[in-house]
Amino acid sequence: MSTRAHEVYDVVGIGFGPSNLSLAISLEEHRENVPAHPTKAVFFERQSAFGWHRNMLLPSATMQISFLKDLATFRNPVSRFGYVSYLHESGRLAKFVNNMDFFPTRLEFHQYLEWAAASFNDRVHYGSDVTAIRMPPAVGAERPDCLEVEVRDNATGAKRLVSARNVAISTGLVPRMPQGMKSDERVWHSSEFLAKYRRMNPADLKSVAVVGAGQSAAEITRFLYDSLPHAQVSAVFPSYGYSVADDTPFANQIFDPDAVDHYYYGTEKARESFWRYHKNTNYSVVDADVIKDLYRRSYDEDVQGVQRLHFLNMTRVREVKRAGDETRVLLDTLLDGHTRELDVDAIVFATGYDSLDPSRLLGDLDRHCLRDDAGRHQVQRDNRLVTTPELSCGIYIQGGTEHTHGLSSALLSNIAVRSGEIADSIVSSRPAPRQREAQGVLAAVGG
Ligand code: FDA
Ligand code: NAP
Repeated sequence: MSTRAHEVYDVVGIGFGPSNLSLAISLEEHRENVPAHPTKAVFFERQSAFGWHRNMLLPSATMQISFLKDLATFRNPVSRFGYVSYLHESGRLAKFVNNMDFFPTRLEFHQYLEWAAASFNDRVHYGSDVTAIRMPPAVGAERPDCLEVEVRDNATGAKRLVSARNVAISTGLVPRMPQGMKSDERVWHSSEFLAKYRRMNPADLKSVAVVGAGQSAAEITRFLYDSLPHAQVSAVFPSYGYSVADDTPFANQIFDPDAVDHYYYGTEKARESFWRYHKNTNYSVVDADVIKDLYRRSYDEDVQGVQRLHFLNMTRVREVKRAGDETRVLLDTLLDGHTRELDVDAIVFATGYDSLDPSRLLGDLDRHCLRDDAGRHQVQRDNRLVTTPELSCGIYIQGGTEHTHGLSSALLSNIAVRSGEIADSIVSSRPAPRQREAQGVLAAVGG
């Protein structure tokens, strides 16, 4: 059973991770600056509470960006939602400064995000999956000025429809398993890691393998080695060794807000160069300190004459055979061209993610969204999808714009500025207040 759309919003945010949380802050700060002209926004999040890659909240994992690239500071350095405000409110500002570290743990950053998210509980519906976005049928000759968003309550299964003048799709990265591999209780993707690990009895994990040479793989390998002192830990990866993530200052400039313009307005050749020269800032690379941690453990084993940490380099997984509790992995090794077998109690595929693709959610609406010659969505500088004239509502995406906005698209580096640009775009495209009243948009913020 679904109820017809009667709630009308200026913005419906789909997903409430850091991107839409940052958008909520931008809209809120706009309301505080221009109180007579508020924007009515609501957000739907499928998780039952706020959570940011919870299954990778490993105890010693640190952030890969400066704490100053928080939800607001780069857009509004005096925002009350900045990291410094959070530290001040937590009573840790002085200690944090004494610590002299730009890169907090992911656990602390998660607490910061939860702290900021708590201010928006009145307009976020958790446990709510957005299942479709549609254009409602036209009434007479008039084009619909709102989209219909279908939401399922995950606890009750009840469906509800809301009307949106604009939608902001920020549904995040999509976990990627190698072709032919399926996750189950012994075969895990890194995005499920802690939840599935905690379901096991550690004593039963005598042999484990981790596939991949990116940050997730290296962090999980370190964690398993330290947490399972009785276990054999095999790291399976396609390169000769782990490669370091380039976070040196000149390279890091590709994540600056200005770089988005350079990429967006650059030539095709310039865009290609961004990727050719700087892909190693983020993909299939590992922070230097984690590489050193792993090498140190391996060296210490040499000194002690024991070995339970195995690096199976230039190796890819060909097949995983499962039978009950038994898991046999077939490995193709480039170094000698042989295929080997490895029996494990669990295997973790830290094989990365696909970027956000709004097509499934858009369904039939997608035919109104224009594509480029390579079949990718055309996206305006303000992150709004380019659509046919019949579609007057705004569809904004945060993520999935690597081809138009560059390398920071799926990262946190630029979310404060990006969400400000989206908020400005939404606010400036709104009809006058009287027209809004006639159309049923209430003059109040919240949902
Ligand atoms: P994010 O994935 O965080 O949030 C999307 C939300 O949408 C999720 O909560 C999901 O449940 C929800 N959702 C999805 N579909 C839905 C639907 N149909 N209906 C309702 N809700 C739905 N980047 C960086 O710059 N620095 C860093 O340190 C890190 N660290 C890091 C660690 C790990 C383990 C990973 C995997 C990635 C990073 N990243 C990163 C990159 C990462 O993409 C980035 O940190 C943010 O998660 C991007 O925030 P979003 O809100 O866009 O997506
Ligand atoms: P990633 O960087 O895309 O790495 C995936 C790895 O899996 C690559 O080494 C890839 O090798 C390998 N791989 C893919 N298919 C394979 C196969 N069939 N067999 C063997 N290896 C295979 O993914 P990630 O490590 O999950 O990182 C994703 C994002 O999350 C990055 O932005 C990263 O910085 C971030 N992250 C951050 C933190 C943190 O903040 N502390 C922690 C984890 C992740 P190829 O190079 O050959 O494809």
